[in-house]
Amino acid sequence: MDIITSAAEAIELEDKYGAHNYHPLPVVLARGEGVFLWDVDGKRYYDFLSAYSAVNQGHCHPKIKSALIEQAGMLTLTSRAFYNNVLGQFEKYITEYFGYDKVLPMNTGAEGVETAIKIARKWGYERKGVDENAAKIIVAEGNFHGRTTTIISFSNDKNARKNFGPYTAGFVRIPYNDVEALKRALHDPAVVAFLVEPIQGEAGVFVPDKGYLRKAKAACEEKNVLFIADEIQTGIARTGKLLAVDHEEVRPDMLILGKAISGGFYPVSAVLADDAVMDVIKPGQHGSTYGGNPLGTKVAIAALEVVKEERLAENADKLGRIFRERMQLLVEKSDLISKVRGKGLLNAIVINDDPESTTAWDICLNLAAKGLLAKPTHGNIIRFAPPLVMTESQLSECCEIIEGVVLGFKKMGLSSHF
Ligand SMILES: Cc1ncc(COP(=O)(O)O)c(C=O)c1O
Repeated sequence: MDIITSAAEAIELEDKYGAHNYHPLPVVLARGEGVFLWDVDGKRYYDFLSAYSAVNQGHCHPKIKSALIEQAGMLTLTSRAFYNNVLGQFEKYITEYFGYDKVLPMNTGAEGVETAIKIARKWGYERKGVDENAAKIIVAEGNFHGRTTTIISFSNDKNARKNFGPYTAGFVRIPYNDVEALKRALHDPAVVAFLVEPIQGEAGVFVPDKGYLRKAKAACEEKNVLFIADEIQTGIARTGKLLAVDHEEVRPDMLILGKAISGGFYPVSAVLADDAVMDVIKPGQHGSTYGGNPLGTKVAIAALEVVKEERLAENADKLGRIFRERMQLLVEKSDLISKVRGKGLLNAIVINDDPESTTAWDICLNLAAKGLLAKPTHGNIIRFAPPLVMTESQLSECCEIIEGVVLGFKKMGLSSHF
């Protein structure tokens, strides 16, 4: 196989041979280390996406890399037909780390969400006494939980749903950040769970009002309904605490993790719950060939150790405050952006333009030209989520880049290179 050397060649290959299910910025990356990425021409960028918050520990973290290499030479996959000598160690480590009785390991985030949905339904029938096939799960408007047919069935993103029906039944959508709407929906005795993102990342970093999660959890508890937190994007120190629910001292009945539990090295996801919930799953009822394999679980232990050893939550909290302060000053100075919001190092700026315009995209092209990579998310919003190993002086340099681009912004075309 030839090594790709030019950006144009790499883009052409993806365009010709790959399904067009993404619209990447025209930058071709070849190397990563810590908060930095380098393209095929050797240009260095600050990464302000962190692979959608999977690389919280920074690119190619040496400790996680060593764990991967060591385990890759020992044993990588056995399937769950047999025991292996890493899985139990991982299960003990992650359950103690997050304070739950049990874990069910999977691979991608969407599989984690699917797993939680299955467990919640089964719990509903077997423990709550809901009539067979009648279980309902409450979800929020603007949710993003992945791409499977069931998950897009309860999305309200037209682009994610259109022509993928028929859709899976059994979901009730209510407005996000609305406790009263939740309470009304909870009157239905067939409801088994409320599935929610503590901050809606993909929708544009929507932070709910203070107290929302706490009140929502209490309302669920009152009606014997499981509170399921999807912390695939918000978890693992991203928002300035280990979990975003920790900001309100909420303990979900089920916790879904993915992305950064393996620091960008290997897809690992997990659902955590106590025995009363997890024990509804019996042999043969759920699984995955790769789920809980020795390679992924060894990587995940190392990745979680890094989060504590390097105090990433504390750093995200501190740098996040500095970042929002700097961006707030920019909002006051520039008509181009109307708002900054977020928690820890999960933030977004809202562009002051028609949601259908390409302004956010254009700004990202300008940022890339100046050595900072970020990507627009829904509705003319730019998410800023750098690796959590960033230093204060690096952040300051990044703020200067963003300020320079916003204040000196010039329009570019949708397909233009920078
Ligand atoms: C909150 C949330 N849930 C689920 C997912 C799906 O994860 P994956 O892409 O690994 O399937 C994502 C991915 O962005 C996410 O942000």
